[in-house]
Amino acid sequence: MKNINIGLFGFGCVGQGLYETLNNSRNFAGEISKICIKNPEKKRKLPAQLFTTKKEEIINDPTIDIVVELIDDAEAAFYIVTESLKAGKSVVTANKKMVAENLETLVALQEQTGKAVLYEGAVCGSIPIIRTLEEYFGHEPLLEVRGIFNGSTNYILTKIFNERLDYPKALKQAQELGFAESDPTLDVQGYDPKYKLSILLTHAFGIHVHPNDITNLGIDRLKAADLEYARAHGLTIKLVAQARRIGDKVYGFVIPQFVEPNHSLASIENEFNAVTIHGEFCDEQLFIGKGAGSLPTGAAVLSDISALSYDYKYEYKKHYNLGQLPFSNQSPVQV
Ligand code: HSE
Repeated sequence: MKNINIGLFGFGCVGQGLYETLNNSRNFAGEISKICIKNPEKKRKLPAQLFTTKKEEIINDPTIDIVVELIDDAEAAFYIVTESLKAGKSVVTANKKMVAENLETLVALQEQTGKAVLYEGAVCGSIPIIRTLEEYFGHEPLLEVRGIFNGSTNYILTKIFNERLDYPKALKQAQELGFAESDPTLDVQGYDPKYKLSILLTHAFGIHVHPNDITNLGIDRLKAADLEYARAHGLTIKLVAQARRIGDKVYGFVIPQFVEPNHSLASIENEFNAVTIHGEFCDEQLFIGKGAGSLPTGAAVLSDISALSYDYKYEYKKHYNLGQLPFSNQSPVQV
């Protein structure tokens, strides 16, 4: 197999996780040959000649096969991804906001250029949920996709319920452990799981729903009385993202929910995520894995790089007549 040359954008928590997973992987024939960073003054363990601050040094380098985009800024990420595709390079990204807000454009650009964008690391960290929806469930009509899509808030809720830690301390720990977004309001207000739900709506139901059209209520809305109610009734609280198809309409939203102790989501703790897929044929399946953190997300990115090495592309559920099912952010259902 040809040695894959990777051009990496960003060397934060996930970028460093990718570097580590790559160096400790089994039989991966590839290496990071250039890393584009914002601040060249920052102390880093790797040789200085590996780094650049100029995007073009990666995008226009003919020796680079695959671009991996792991920066925080969604607008800059969109520029990097689209310019790389136009330059004839396939791309791996973990930027859920950028993907969710631009998925229609990214699908069109992949068709035009014949190159691929993969983003498994953008949704639920190490859980291989997008490829599962694309491949395993490629032809099964789905009824529901539901779960815990945010590791930080699940970590915070676990600490509040199991250790009676207060909210600010639990949030600080989630930040220190590298689970939270650089702007943690995206986690606690439910934006991050909403971006992930928006992406899964495409792969589960073949519809593009802009995140602005999905309702999100976060754990910042929880009051002491909610916690007391849950404790008094032997319940826990989880931030749940869900999309359900009823007839020919899909309903979806992100909201904190009381969860019974015997519910499959009740035992999902700390930074773990869980996704339930309910299909017409398979009934319910539950996928669990670390949804945040340097190595688990780095591993998902590495898996995408490896998939690109055998020319894997998403097919976007063409059999669903992409865009045909109407979407509603109102809840007609009891959860
Ligand atoms: N802030 C995100 C989370 C990181 O806590 O789940 C992974 O997307």
